[in-house]
Amino acid sequence: MIVSITNLKGGVGKSTLAQNLAVYLAKKGRNLCIADTDVEQQTSVKWGSVRSAIEDGSVPPVPVYLINPDTISDQILNKLSKKYDLVIIDGTPALTELTTRIIIMSDLVVTPILASATDVWALDTFLKRYEEARITKQAMGGKVELYVLLNKYNERINLDREIGETIGDMSVNLFDTKLSARVAYKEATVQGLGVTELRDKNAQAEIEAIAAEIENLL
Ligand SMILES: Nc1ncnc2c1ncn2[C@@H]1O[C@H](COP(=O)(O)OP(=O)(O)O)[C@@H](O)[C@H]1O
Ligand SMILES: [Mg+2]
Repeated sequence: MIVSITNLKGGVGKSTLAQNLAVYLAKKGRNLCIADTDVEQQTSVKWGSVRSAIEDGSVPPVPVYLINPDTISDQILNKLSKKYDLVIIDGTPALTELTTRIIIMSDLVVTPILASATDVWALDTFLKRYEEARITKQAMGGKVELYVLLNKYNERINLDREIGETIGDMSVNLFDTKLSARVAYKEATVQGLGVTELRDKNAQAEIEAIAAEIENLL
């Protein structure tokens, strides 16, 4: 199975979600890895090296691979997806050919967005690209689905709720679970951890809920 966390925008929580999903599912015994395609930032690669330095055995290992855009198909389809049951692709924030290739190789595309007008406009562009890729994959006899995830969402803010409703009207799948802005996500990143390895119960519950929704789709 290949799940990609992708969107055209940077700073929407792609890497954060990839890491938290990976940690939670690794703890549940899933044989998985993260494939970091963001060669500029390499956020998950850096997170992975902090994590692998934790040598007291307190956390399950999460292998992170840096993907070379030129050989992505060989690396992910021929190598990683044979070795691991689940490959979580931490996507690139660029509307390039690479984005199309990532969508085509995915079983599920998870698109985090922030509850803002600019993010909804960017989503519109991304959805057009997704639809082209989906049709290409369908013509090859394959299938891919896309779900949007609202990140740093605050249901007490009217505008956030309105954005949620707008996306609901866009005939796109939206996860019931929404992630709030929480310090725990930032703390987890610097420590090479997931929030399910920290104390914030609300953050843990969110990640468990989104992981359950994602697992139901696989
Ligand atoms: N739900 C959240 N709450 C608080 N901070 C978050 C949350 N999601 C992401 N962040 C922070 O926002 C920044 C961008 O997130 P990141 O996952 O690196 O985005 P992307 O990979 O899409 O560029 C990081 O500093 C990250 O720690
Ligand atoms: Mg990133």
